[in-house]
Amino acid sequence: MLYTKKSALGMAAAALAFGMVATAAVRAEDAKPADASLANKLDPNAKEIDDKVLAASAAVKVEDGKYKDKDGDPTFHIVNDGKKVDWFTYSGYRRYHAECHVCHGPDAMGSTYAPALKDSLKHLNYSEFMGILAGGKQDVNSSDQKVMPAFADNKNVMCYADDLYVYLRARAAGAWGRARPGEKEEKPDSAKTTEKECLGG
Ligand code: HEC
Repeated sequence: MLYTKKSALGMAAAALAFGMVATAAVRAEDAKPADASLANKLDPNAKEIDDKVLAASAAVKVEDGKYKDKDGDPTFHIVNDGKKVDWFTYSGYRRYHAECHVCHGPDAMGSTYAPALKDSLKHLNYSEFMGILAGGKQDVNSSDQKVMPAFADNKNVMCYADDLYVYLRARAAGAWGRARPGEKEEKPDSAKTTEKECLGG
């Protein structure tokens, strides 16, 4: 009886101590400075920087060559004074100019038919973007019947949905301008595997 009581107390004390240690650990983690290698180093003369979008798309980690923001959504990583991009920004640029530019204009600048995605991505989040891409969109109030097609069945689009999002996000933040990316990170192995599975499956 005495033994049980003692051990229960002991456990409570241990739990309390553990809780305090855990709390202290979390605080230390919060206070840790951001990983400098994840910071963008943009063109110092970039003209279209949107500070809010740029801050919201800051990378906090990189997983297999794919940069992620604080919500775990894919984002861009641009360094060398804006000259070198991550793989997905580069790939997204190419996919955009294969599948989307006919309606949305070169460099996501928009056209008389479809909106400038460099502006749309300032307010559309990742899941909204994915929803529109897969399901399409039609402005029911417009008299001229402009339609965003649903791409759910198009592998050349859906297998590169993250790439498209990352490129357009960089355009929306003003981190990437109206140019074709030159220097880029190597294609990550994970991107090769995912692409193969997606296109083949
Ligand atoms: C056939 C023309 C066409 C093509 C091709 C096309 N779109 Fe669209 N898209 C539109 C139109 C038109 C709208 C506006 C629809 C509306 O608001 O009702 C639109 C809207 C969008 C929107 C929502 C924009 C907003 O501000 O709400 C996104 C995101 C989008 N398109 C992404 C893409 C991507 C990415 C591609 C390439 C994979 C693509 N679109 C290809 C015509 C097109």
